[in-house]
Amino acid sequence: MVKPSVFVTRRWPAAVEAQLAENYNAVLNTSDKPLSPTELRDALRNHDAVLPTVTDKLGAEVLEQPGARVRILANYGVGYSHICEASAQDLGLTVTNTPDVLSECTADLAMTLLLMAARRAGDGERELRAGNWQGWRPTHLIGTKVSGKTLGIVGFGRIGQEMARRAHFGFGMKIIVHNRSRVDASVLAEFGAVQTGSIDDLLPECDFVSLHCPGGTGNRHLIDARRLDLMKPGAFLINTARGEVVDEAALVQALIFDTIGGAALDVFDGEPNINPALLQCDNVVLLPHLGSATREAREAMGFRVLDNLGDFFAGRDPRDRVI
Ligand code: DGY
Repeated sequence: MVKPSVFVTRRWPAAVEAQLAENYNAVLNTSDKPLSPTELRDALRNHDAVLPTVTDKLGAEVLEQPGARVRILANYGVGYSHICEASAQDLGLTVTNTPDVLSECTADLAMTLLLMAARRAGDGERELRAGNWQGWRPTHLIGTKVSGKTLGIVGFGRIGQEMARRAHFGFGMKIIVHNRSRVDASVLAEFGAVQTGSIDDLLPECDFVSLHCPGGTGNRHLIDARRLDLMKPGAFLINTARGEVVDEAALVQALIFDTIGGAALDVFDGEPNINPALLQCDNVVLLPHLGSATREAREAMGFRVLDNLGDFFAGRDPRDRVI
């Protein structure tokens, strides 16, 4: 039997690439550079499956082309807002993602960011490396206590729930949740959490707000100037979701004028380009999209893609089909 032809847009962990090569005619983007729209169109035209990730912008202008051979986009990652859902649907493409396997690691990183922002860890590291540390003193780099404070979680899927677990059981935080749909009472009870009807009700109550909702046009600038203004003075905003969820220009203003305590961001609108004004703000922690960047999670994500491909080419409905 002829093996399906599969195109992988970025390099993956070696163990996953090895297994991929056993089961498929796999073509890798050996340069590991983000592909241009033309290169993506070529991949869609010439392969049965394309295995994209967050750096591949698969909008209508790339997906919609005559004569494409691709039947499945098996995404490496849980977020898939870089794939135009309407076009994929119209073209009858199957789209899968990789949930679950990165939830703990992404929540770990969100908690890392929260702690770094609250305890001014970035400031301290920069100061020490620059050779400017003057030694211990009672008023040096004073941060904000985390234990016992209130955390607002926007988006209470798997990653949001893992964040609640860490914050509630590890730091005794009170949890307030906003989610598109009603969260099961037993899930809320596990974390002693309450759900608010709107984000506007959550923001004024929280010392920390962590974003775990999907990206995409529906959630673009969900946190805008008006909502930043609703946050408590001194509160912190954490974003490990998608850059477009926060209006970065408005966030810069809130950081410059100290209307919030600070922010910690792992994702950026238009990444890897960063709004230069953010780089000038000391009260923001900036990381280069590391949410799922552990050996364990990145391997598991790859094997999950392979499971989805296996299902698809065996004629079964892939377990992680999202379109
Ligand atoms: C995810 O899985 O969505 C990560 O952000 C990488 O795309």
